[in-house]
Amino acid sequence: MLMRSLIKRGLGLQAAGPCISSSTRAVRSLSTFYDWKDERKLTTLELQHKARNGEKLAMITAYDYPTARHAEDTGFDILLVGDSLGMVVLGYDTTQPVTMEETLHHLKAVRRGAPSRFIVADLPFGSYELGIEQAFENSMRLVKEGGADAVKLEGGINRAETVRKLTDVGIAVMGHVGLTPQGISVLGGFRAQGRTAVKARKVLDDALALEKAGAFGVVVECVPAQVASAITDSLEIPVIGIGAGPGTNGQVLVYHDLLGIQAHPHYKQHVPSFCKKYAEVGLSVHEALTKYRVETKQGAFPSEQHSPYKMSEKEGGKFAQLLEQDALERANEGKEVRKKAEEADEYGQLKLY
Ligand code: KIV
Repeated sequence: MLMRSLIKRGLGLQAAGPCISSSTRAVRSLSTFYDWKDERKLTTLELQHKARNGEKLAMITAYDYPTARHAEDTGFDILLVGDSLGMVVLGYDTTQPVTMEETLHHLKAVRRGAPSRFIVADLPFGSYELGIEQAFENSMRLVKEGGADAVKLEGGINRAETVRKLTDVGIAVMGHVGLTPQGISVLGGFRAQGRTAVKARKVLDDALALEKAGAFGVVVECVPAQVASAITDSLEIPVIGIGAGPGTNGQVLVYHDLLGIQAHPHYKQHVPSFCKKYAEVGLSVHEALTKYRVETKQGAFPSEQHSPYKMSEKEGGKFAQLLEQDALERANEGKEVRKKAEEADEYGQLKLY
């Protein structure tokens, strides 16, 4: 068991020597991670192979064309069009209101921005629980209309049958256990799961049931690190952690959280404590927008530098002549328009501004 766990975590690589190609080893060397990426989309089998050989999988959420382009260009293994969309992009308080139409709308943009990344799309709350027909129909829409490579659904043992039937018809499914935000009303809030031995065992059993049902991978959210490590050691498929410590086969974070995109206080309350902020993009955005507004008010923008379109002297002269020809007529028309606008503005007439 210990050996299996070491090999799975990439610590037994020398013992596993012949299985590891030199190119795989090169990929694993730290410096190459900065400028290296898979040029083509990975398959579920390749993702599993990488995880089995100790390579960590890097996954990130994406919701639109620009985020997808960034994720594509920085070489992530998996992009997730998560239903966190509802909270970080659409302004909902939870993920529950997210609809199929909203997911599809954003998924299509992500597909256009990241043609060569493996994209997983979340089945939103209420789009798969009614029965297998509903799960089929909506999963097919995500794959056929939206261009997803796989769907993700929340739940464990209770969703195993759905996972089995979806994979039977050829839809790749990723599971999601631990904190399952769609069930927030029952869970009683965004809180860590599996903190007692019995509950931790239940999270493991959920993950095992999903694997047995055919899931190609599973997200484990907000559980103690030793629980996530035990799940990773027990499963053959990749386990991707979020708020679950370092012992999983890979990590996923929400794009907006890791970039510190929103400086807005309402948003801040949703940035989870496990999330490392790699940038303070929200502060830069706030600063830039403030500068633009101030410069516009001051008339400092646009300067000569940002007024690039020129007329030749000859055309400029002709244009001035044209303007002169009907200058009086236009001035009179202008006066009429102004008078009407002033008459319509009761607040202006009463000097209430
Ligand atoms: O919707 C989402 O972003 C997710 C991740 C938290 C895994 O499901």
